[in-house]
Amino acid sequence: MATKPAALQELESPETTPDVSLAGRDLCSVADLTTTELAGILSLAHDVKTNLAAYRWALDAKQMVMFFEKASLRTRLTFQTAMNTLGGSALFVDQTQSPLGERESLADIARNVERWVQIIVLRTYAHETITEMAQYASVPVINALSDLEHPCQAIADFMTLEERFGNLRGFNFTYVGDGNNVCHSLMLTAALLGAHCTVGAPKNYAPKADIVAQARAIANVTGSNITVMNDPVGAVTGADAIYTDICTSMGFEHEATKRAPIFKPYQVNETLMAHAAPSAVFMHCLPAHRNAEVTDAVLDGPQSVVFDQAENRMHAQKALLLMLLGCGKGRTNA
Ligand code: CP
Ligand code: NVA
Repeated sequence: MATKPAALQELESPETTPDVSLAGRDLCSVADLTTTELAGILSLAHDVKTNLAAYRWALDAKQMVMFFEKASLRTRLTFQTAMNTLGGSALFVDQTQSPLGERESLADIARNVERWVQIIVLRTYAHETITEMAQYASVPVINALSDLEHPCQAIADFMTLEERFGNLRGFNFTYVGDGNNVCHSLMLTAALLGAHCTVGAPKNYAPKADIVAQARAIANVTGSNITVMNDPVGAVTGADAIYTDICTSMGFEHEATKRAPIFKPYQVNETLMAHAAPSAVFMHCLPAHRNAEVTDAVLDGPQSVVFDQAENRMHAQKALLLMLLGCGKGRTNA
């Protein structure tokens, strides 16, 4: 299924409601979504979290397959629990030993799988593996993390922020650390919601220029600012949320020794947190490398919302599955 045009094309003029426009679509990038569609997913996620019984059989007999080239705890289990509790089934295929496309082409995998299941979830190294599968498969494809993006994470993270802070227009969101897949999706999500996003990253580890440009183009319409700098203290000063991730993502493990000293000044510790707003929260997608990118005191401290984020992965993905499978209209037995 072809991915719809970039977010900007529909940003200001959604012609249909999200439950209609998202039905049958892919989610390869956050930029596949309009502001209205993202707001629709978030709104449904809050309702599903509060009123699960009303959605209990909404995905009755639907089948989801997950092909994962990389390790996972949260993403795998939250997709499985999401699908199971809505009445559907989840199949897991471990691709960590043989990358997708090696045994047979992506097109042939798509032509088989679409005959058996209603939705495909992929965790890959190459982002193109996801966009190609989306191109070939007639059923929706979801990016469950690629080297470029982690959209499901970012949607759950901004759901977590909405729970705490309400409307996020003008919110000061700061990401400190590696300008990686998680950072990319967070920037795009912040831009779509009209939240300001500041990234503090070491030289040579900034987010990709084309993603920054994409986020800025969206932010120009929604009225927010996307700022990238090298200074960690400057980046977190006055922030309403400070987010970090491991400095060596999956696939970059061979760079761990080289990266450790470069990222040391970007560690989120109590001193860095003290520059944020007093009400600021600390966020991390997990898994965390304790006392590397974040100290125990911050990760386990009163400002940390990391396990709320982890819980919300499940609720946000329920909403996403409902929307893409054409069941996003509302409750089934309210
Ligand atoms: N945050 C996240 O995606 O965790 P996993 O790698 O365990 O799925
Ligand atoms: N940036 C990390 C996120 C893990 C959830 C990685 O890609 O390994």
